[in-house]
Amino acid sequence: MRLAILLSGRGSNFQAIHEAVQSGVLDASIVCVISNRANAPGIERAQEYGYDAHVVDHKASADRAAHEEAVLRLLEVARPDFIVLAGYMRLLSASFVARWHHRILNIHPSLLPAFPGVDAQAQAIAHGVKVSGCTVHFVDEHLDAGPILVQRTVAVLQSDDASTLAARILIEEHAAYVEALSKLKNGYNIEGRRVVFWSTR
Ligand code: GRF
Repeated sequence: MRLAILLSGRGSNFQAIHEAVQSGVLDASIVCVISNRANAPGIERAQEYGYDAHVVDHKASADRAAHEEAVLRLLEVARPDFIVLAGYMRLLSASFVARWHHRILNIHPSLLPAFPGVDAQAQAIAHGVKVSGCTVHFVDEHLDAGPILVQRTVAVLQSDDASTLAARILIEEHAAYVEALSKLKNGYNIEGRRVVFWSTR
């Protein structure tokens, strides 16, 4: 299973996937890593690890379409089976998503469909939910909305603020992404909105 990672920042989800691949927990290879920010810690780490790592700075592109074209060209060379968004802070256009229909994954720090968009953990605290978590889902043309692969729950403590909750959710994110990719590897169908895995392991 060939994976392309798109990131914009810290890259801890990339790191978790990298470690799972290295240790043999996840039978996959990371065929390229692309960042839209030159100084993202995640892309610096990808370079250190010797991955095919690229910066496609959105600010250096004429417009959104030109930036996406540049990313698409790299993906066409890398030929991933799946594109893994790991803290990629760019909305993908409908045509990009259509080009990679049901082959782009994202992770979001809430139990979707609750709290899509930015600051999901702060939204959860403000709403007063007692349970939150994370969601790995396929990307469709809507924000944080495609078919769900894996969710993991995290209890919201009375003492939590957005950052303490985010830290505990992040631990679950790392496991959830590896779990979702492992399940994909074993085969799946998409029935309406439901992702049905051939193996439940
Ligand atoms: C994670 O919280 C993820 O859910 C969200 O962006 C953050 C990325 O973190 N989409 P990292 O760069 O993987 O550490």
